[in-house]
Amino acid sequence: MAIYTATTLQGLENVLSNELTDLGATISEVHNRAVTFEGDLAMLYRANLCLRTALHILQPIHQFTARSDEELYKQVNAIDWKQYFDIDQSFAIYPTIYSEYFQHSQFAALRVKDAIADRFRADFGGRRPAVDKANPDFKIYIHIKGSTCSLLLDSSGESLHKRGYRTEANQAPLNEVLAAGMILMTNWRGQSNFIDYMCGSGTLLIEATMIALRHAPNLYREQFAFMQWRNYDEKLFNRTCHEVADQQLDEWEHWAIGGDINAQTIQIARQNVQRAQLEDYIRLSVKDFMNSQLPNNGGMLMMNPPYDMRLQDDDIVAFYKNMGDTLKKNYQNTQAWILSGNMEALKNIGLRPTRKIKLLNATIECGFYCYELYEGSKKTPKNEQQDPDNEPF
Ligand SMILES: C[S@@+](CC[C@H](N)C(=O)[O-])C[C@H]1O[C@@H](n2cnc3c(N)ncnc32)[C@H](O)[C@@H]1O
Repeated sequence: MAIYTATTLQGLENVLSNELTDLGATISEVHNRAVTFEGDLAMLYRANLCLRTALHILQPIHQFTARSDEELYKQVNAIDWKQYFDIDQSFAIYPTIYSEYFQHSQFAALRVKDAIADRFRADFGGRRPAVDKANPDFKIYIHIKGSTCSLLLDSSGESLHKRGYRTEANQAPLNEVLAAGMILMTNWRGQSNFIDYMCGSGTLLIEATMIALRHAPNLYREQFAFMQWRNYDEKLFNRTCHEVADQQLDEWEHWAIGGDINAQTIQIARQNVQRAQLEDYIRLSVKDFMNSQLPNNGGMLMMNPPYDMRLQDDDIVAFYKNMGDTLKKNYQNTQAWILSGNMEALKNIGLRPTRKIKLLNATIECGFYCYELYEGSKKTPKNEQQDPDNEPF
């Protein structure tokens, strides 16, 4: 058994923790943008293959105290680095520092890099591994909180949000990890159609379909950093892949239904869906949401409408009002989830949200609101300010 840390986006920590529990891991602690868990080597492989809301899976390797760059150098230099990697493998250092003792994270990272290089030089007659910031074999994270320094090895390599299906994107695509996290926050697991009529590059539709089919998001990735580790067990990894593949479904009685007003965007979405090999489950068409209807056999709606200010203020108010009117008129008896970075504009939907979740889309603070559109759905009270449910965060 070992301790690992899965990192994620802000706001998705509990979703990630639930995902880990479902995989059979034992949760040690939920942190800000990370979850620490216990598991064996197979669990490390499964976490990398299956977690939808993790960015990287890290293994803590050393913890020590340091209060200056020199102390940091000495502690890192004292580690026998050849137990982790070879002189012909490249490395890079990634710092995260919240400490009054270390003001410049890049300088601290440089001292860690020097300490590792010097240790190799001392052990290998002046030779040292190369630093490769673009594509290192070994990503070494240094986290410093106060005087507590932790070194962690990245087992994933490239971030796990890069599933491989989205090489082309429209403007403002959602991060795949955020899209999966949004879906997992609802109770939707494939029990109805999933509709996104502002689908852009199709991220929500693809993530939803993978959830419905129990497809592991990174099962077909060819490279994980742990494949370079000394303890890499190829047989165990292959067995884990087979076990994960056995749990996947190839039939789903519902559809992911997507549309976008822009024909070129739908073309991009189509290519992404094909790359994900999900064209048998996702239907796409060019469509104006404002003229759309809930399909006869229903479905849950989730959309990420435009909210940037390229639309003039008046237009954005009218756009959101129109969206609300369409929901009220054409989407009765369902649930709609809207992610928007424009909280003012969201008020113009004119429906009272039954859930309000705060999320970060890249650096933009967003509201992820649920609207229950069942008969007798409550309208937004005239005086919104007096309604605590409608207060901005
Ligand atoms: C923020 S993007 C969605 C990004 C998407 N979630 C992704 O991951 O790529 C908003 C999308 O809404 C589309 N859109 C804007 N107005 C629309 C309308 N009236 N009906 C349908 N789609 C619309 C835009 O073309 C754009 O692709």
